[in-house]
Amino acid sequence: MITDPDSWWHRFKSIGAIAVFHVDLTAHQGREVEALTWLDGEERSRWERFQSPTAQRRYVLCRAALRAILGRQLGCPNESLGFEAAKHGKPFALVNGLPASISFNVSHSGNHGLVAVAPRGRLGVDVEERAPRRNLENLIEGVFSPHEKAELESLDGCQQLHKFFRFWTIKEALVKAHGKGLSMKVAELEIPEDMRRGAAKSICQFAQIPETTWCLEDMGTREFAAAIAYEVSP
Ligand SMILES: CC(C)(COP(=O)(O)OP(=O)(O)OC[C@H]1O[C@@H](n2cnc3c(N)ncnc32)[C@H](O)[C@@H]1OP(=O)(O)O)[C@@H](O)C(=O)NCCC(=O)NCCS
Repeated sequence: MITDPDSWWHRFKSIGAIAVFHVDLTAHQGREVEALTWLDGEERSRWERFQSPTAQRRYVLCRAALRAILGRQLGCPNESLGFEAAKHGKPFALVNGLPASISFNVSHSGNHGLVAVAPRGRLGVDVEERAPRRNLENLIEGVFSPHEKAELESLDGCQQLHKFFRFWTIKEALVKAHGKGLSMKVAELEIPEDMRRGAAKSICQFAQIPETTWCLEDMGTREFAAAIAYEVSP
């Protein structure tokens, strides 16, 4: 098992059996060099294919933290861990080549990564640094429902940007929990009214995913917007 007294991840939040870790993605050569040694051959090839050193850094620091967190939770050595992707790209873990009984999801933006882990149930996590976006209007048009758009369009400047990222991360966490990525009609996944108005969490269902009840939870801080979505057991 990987043990590192100077680890670059720490527990950020606990929600029942779900643990959410924050991963520090600031530039740090020593960490990057070490993290790369924890990756397997396939992951290293992927790391090599990233076009920019920043993208490489985010990937390697997040993936190594994910390995350490899963290895500890599953009680297995790093060499036994592997990853595969489901049909729409959502990764799952393998131990000695067999699917591991654990759920996780990863997100990274700027200097911040989040890793959420749970013993069971689908979950998704999203983090976004609140950097101004040039094409905000187009994104609002393409991704949000009429109610969500009306609320965003009633604001401007920092307030609009703040709410945009709050809504965006909540939706993206849900899309990532479900795992079907870009094939989902995201504008139709309307954030419940109580949450749009500021509630920190909400239990809800969506016509597109009728079989599942979800809990959506805002995890934003001053530094970043973030949200988690997870299945509620019947
Ligand atoms: C991959 C995707 C799910 C998220 O991408 P992103 O926001 O750029 O990136 P994030 O940093 O939040 O997440 C990337 C991580 O999600 C995981 N991931 C990849 N595909 C995934 C999928 N289909 N479902 C859930 N997680 C996925 C991976 O672990 C990946 O990290 P890694 O490559 O380092 O292993 C994206 O391609 C997507 O489909 N987005 C949803 C569509 C959309 O329209 N969103 C608009 C706002 S709702």
